[in-house]
Amino acid sequence: MKKITAAITAVGGFVPKDILSNADLEKMVDTNDEWIRTRTGIEERRILKGEGMGTSHMGAEAVKSLCEKRGISPEEIDLIICATVTPDMMFPATANIIADKIGAKNAFGYDINAACSGFLFALATGSKFIETGSYKKVVIVGGDKMSSIVDYTDRETCIIFGDGCSSVLLEPNEEGLGIQDSILKSDGSGRHYLYQKAGGSAYPATAETVANKDHFITQEGKTVFKFAVTNMADVSAEIMERNNLSADDVAWLVPHQANLRIIDATARRMELDPSKVMINIQKYGNTTSGTIPLCLLEWEDQLKKGDNIILSAFGGGFTWGSVYLKWAYDKK
Ligand code: UT7
Repeated sequence: MKKITAAITAVGGFVPKDILSNADLEKMVDTNDEWIRTRTGIEERRILKGEGMGTSHMGAEAVKSLCEKRGISPEEIDLIICATVTPDMMFPATANIIADKIGAKNAFGYDINAACSGFLFALATGSKFIETGSYKKVVIVGGDKMSSIVDYTDRETCIIFGDGCSSVLLEPNEEGLGIQDSILKSDGSGRHYLYQKAGGSAYPATAETVANKDHFITQEGKTVFKFAVTNMADVSAEIMERNNLSADDVAWLVPHQANLRIIDATARRMELDPSKVMINIQKYGNTTSGTIPLCLLEWEDQLKKGDNIILSAFGGGFTWGSVYLKWAYDKK
């Protein structure tokens, strides 16, 4: 019997229509377009507005578009894994809410929280359900409504984040295409530098936590930056070495979009030509779990069957990792 690999067979996505530009932020905090562009590469981000609109809204739209593209009914989905740090609620899982909204009646689902590395952690997890032959259609959703936990008076964090969501379908492949390898890492001592303090069991919501702004993101940007630059570059080089890939063998790098300088450092370490690096940070900012699949969606037309692709991320936790895959289809 041939070995079964897990291949991405469709990509869907959703970004909200409302735009928050650098010019808009100049009116909200003491910042300027030039600083934001040169320090991060970001020009604008999308914001999900509307009462009761959470990550599941974007996730449901992303999975619906994926089903339409692949020509399948949501009822054919076996499993939905949603990577997010901004679930609709602490529980139930946003994956379950998405399943209900789209009529994925036969799917079970759960969420994965690995911050900006969430999509990679979920992709690696979901691929195992396919490789073992247990399931045939696994959907990985990566998305966040970061605007729900951003303090728009804190100029060091509010300029970075945006809202967006994307999804991929994993199906069995017997041609050796799809996910080849993954390296996933975490270091909990990094929790002191990037976190949302309150709302969990250690610091449940009180009037005081709200007054202290403890439900917003706290980030020590410079420290996170240093760890991100080193670890994202190292893990990307490691997965290339482990799979005997040279820069010429790699068709695309799909990096987490947190800061253009982190992306550039990673590409340099891999000795990749900049033309092989997917970058859309200027349009969406950092959508946390959404960045990597949103790139895949945008570049889908250019991807060719057999392309060697490296996905790479670093985020809160700390968490970081890379996935090596062979693209499985030419878009019709
Ligand atoms: O995806 C999750 C992981 N997160 C990340 O990867 C984020 C990693 N960190 C970063 O991307 C960067 O550290 C930031 C974009 C957050 C900050 O950039 P930086 O180059 O590290 O700036 P800095 O914190 O060293 O600040 C430099 C200066 C400071 O002023 P002084 O002390 O030199 O007078 C800041 O107060 O820039 C100031 N500053 C700003 N100025 C204008 C900080 N934020 C802003 C701002 N506008 N928005």
